[in-house]
Amino acid sequence: MNTKTFEQYESVVRSYCRHFPKVFTDAKGAVLKDEDGTEYIDFFCGAGAVNYGHNNPYIKQKMIDYLATDGIIHALDMYTVPKREFIETLEEKIIKPRGLSYKIQFCGPTGTNGVEAAIKLARKNTGRSNIFAFMGCFHGMTLGALSLTSEMYARNGAGASLNDVTHIPAPYMFEGLDVINYMQTLLDDDHSAVSKPAAVIMETTQAEGGIRPFTNEFLRDVRAFCDKNDILMIVDDIQVGCCRTGTFFSFERAGIKPDMVVMSKSIGGIGMPLSIVLLREDLDIWKPAEHNGTFRGNQLSFVAGKASFDWLLENNVEAETQRKGEIVRAFLTKEVLPLDSRLELRGLGLIWGLDFGKINPELAEVVIEKCFENHLICECAGRDGAVFKIMPPLVIEDELLNKGLRIVADAVKEALA
Ligand SMILES: Cc1ncc(COP(=O)(O)O)c(C=O)c1O
Repeated sequence: MNTKTFEQYESVVRSYCRHFPKVFTDAKGAVLKDEDGTEYIDFFCGAGAVNYGHNNPYIKQKMIDYLATDGIIHALDMYTVPKREFIETLEEKIIKPRGLSYKIQFCGPTGTNGVEAAIKLARKNTGRSNIFAFMGCFHGMTLGALSLTSEMYARNGAGASLNDVTHIPAPYMFEGLDVINYMQTLLDDDHSAVSKPAAVIMETTQAEGGIRPFTNEFLRDVRAFCDKNDILMIVDDIQVGCCRTGTFFSFERAGIKPDMVVMSKSIGGIGMPLSIVLLREDLDIWKPAEHNGTFRGNQLSFVAGKASFDWLLENNVEAETQRKGEIVRAFLTKEVLPLDSRLELRGLGLIWGLDFGKINPELAEVVIEKCFENHLICECAGRDGAVFKIMPPLVIEDELLNKGLRIVADAVKEALA
């Protein structure tokens, strides 16, 4: 298989292809195919961008139908039919039925663009520059978002100072640390050296941070802390939103209402680039064009996104994700955890992590390689890349899910041997 072109001409910054050095051609549901026709089960799912399956037939047909009409593709942020339908469907079928109320800001097409917009708007609303983010978080790679992202490897690539963020220890990091009290002390102590933030930004389950779900109680406590101190709460649902954890919004399990929600990845339905901020109406104090961008209006993304809302409701995707998540939990608990008492399993919905950190962080990498040899695509996450991540498309058939899990179990067994 010819990968020379990439090695010769593509920047060495490339990353995922290093774990999967094949040339891929087509994909359907939870299966990818390479140039030689070899099939791979996908437990990585475009890092959460294709929750509803590769080439989801319903969504794809809507896109084909739209293309066939010579529908406008690029329209800046002009009014278009696909944008109107996307907004109406998101508001009427997803947001309002959940007792939520948000306006929608369309951002540049990647997650990090949405994060930039959200923190900029939080700062504009409060007149404060500091933001609280949690250690272990990942919020993107552009400078504002990167100042939030805690991973040192990524931060060191910035070549610029990354300011105006205070990183708070995540609750799992220090046993017995009352994180809410810690944050309150930072505000109340006139010798804390920390300025009151505009916002607290968080993933409800840290994904790149090693599949670390925060408890419902902690999420509610953060909400209460923000309310008490007049601080905005921003949930980054870029990776764990769009049904990944078993509900459309990941924070639904805690019954909270964030002030802003950032969404990207699967909000584009079928892997189309799209990023949005959902914001409380009174926060919408932008001046026209004050946060702009050429690609805030890819019509095919709107078509695919709208189609995905209709499709996920019709197909009970939330309940199905919870059911399949239970298959993953039960299988790994029975077949993998007994292999070594130091292994840890964390997750919910269809995002799970096997943590090798207490044995040897490098084992996660070994398992990824063994899985790939057996035609299963997986990635790692967390400190030292020690967490083997399991994140299949939500549409994966039970049989394929079990087949993939068996490959994982065999790979872990081999790696530990
Ligand atoms: C939680 C979270 N926030 C932000 C981002 C950044 O999104 P993008 O890579 O599209 O800029 C990611 C990407 O993995 C993410 O997982």
